[in-house]
Amino acid sequence: MPQLPTLPNMSVPKTIEWISQSRKRLVPGRIRMIDQTLLPNKLVFLEIADVKKVWHAIKTLQVRGAPAIGIAAAMGVAVAVQNSKAKSGMQLAREVCKATDYLATSRPTAVNLFWALNRIKKLANANTRLSPAELKELIASTAVAIRDEDAAMCRAIGQYGLKFLKDGYTVLTHCNAGSLATAEYGTALAPIYTAIERGMKIRVYADETRPLLQGARLTAWELQQAGIEVTLICDNMAAHVMKQRHVNAVFVGADRIAANGDTANKIGTYGVALLAKAHKIPFYVFAPTSTFDLSLKKGSEIPIEERPAGEITKGFGKCIAPKGIKVYAPAFDITPAELITAIVCEKGIAKPDFSKSLPGYVQA
Ligand code: MRU
Repeated sequence: MPQLPTLPNMSVPKTIEWISQSRKRLVPGRIRMIDQTLLPNKLVFLEIADVKKVWHAIKTLQVRGAPAIGIAAAMGVAVAVQNSKAKSGMQLAREVCKATDYLATSRPTAVNLFWALNRIKKLANANTRLSPAELKELIASTAVAIRDEDAAMCRAIGQYGLKFLKDGYTVLTHCNAGSLATAEYGTALAPIYTAIERGMKIRVYADETRPLLQGARLTAWELQQAGIEVTLICDNMAAHVMKQRHVNAVFVGADRIAANGDTANKIGTYGVALLAKAHKIPFYVFAPTSTFDLSLKKGSEIPIEERPAGEITKGFGKCIAPKGIKVYAPAFDITPAELITAIVCEKGIAKPDFSKSLPGYVQA
């Protein structure tokens, strides 16, 4: 990994962290996370020590963004078993498997969720000789490590991503792939934070990102908090903005990247990639290696989550469509690898042909 940059004094609070009652031990503890459904109007922290509430937080997008979901799931297993009465490590490991299977049903697309759950499950199964108390502590410390590693990966992504920025650049982004979607710094926004820290001037256009407005509610808020010049646009303005204004690059995150480089990200990303190609603007994807799924050959194999119709027809309270209208609400789309200029992870930069360059960075 490259040397970690010192990032600007970010006024964005921590997205998710583990709070323990004692200084010496992590267990018992609870998860503290920003309730992202209330932003930008209210900054409210949830404190959760119940696995059903963790599942609910992931499902309802109180915590969202691929890396943050993975962290929440890992911490979710820790809270699920911390009060267990299991008499042996073997018995506790069985409870861990039950909790991972349960949390795996929360959302299907972001592979970080399954990556984190598998890591915890394997760890428990490999350590059944430990006492239940020792195993509980090991699980909580691994969940905390997943959070800390994510922060370090995002910093490294920020530094590699600097290569694609120049002083005075304007970047367009879709959804939220910032601090709120990760442990800290973000993926697609990390190079922007790093560039600002280096004294560069970077401007951002944030797509509002229908239907749940992660761009308007979260990216615009987070960049504004960090003092970065951000302009909010509706999704259907991106083509006009690319034509009329000077957009130097598109930066997006990812929820799952297949072996050939096809990338699942928030619905609308594919359209932005097509627009970028039409306007000869480079289109970059930023994601930690926990977002790569080399077990899938191509993007069409990635499961796409469908969300409830109400998120489109009355997303924020008010009914904006006729009652009973038929709705299709995919939460993600697939950007084909050929539309992606480069993929940046914490180990470096992969360029097409991704089927050859990605495996060098990521273990299958
Ligand atoms: O439905 P969400 O808000 O969880 O979707 C999030 C995205 O699509 C992000 O762009 C993606 O997770 C990258 S986050 C670093």
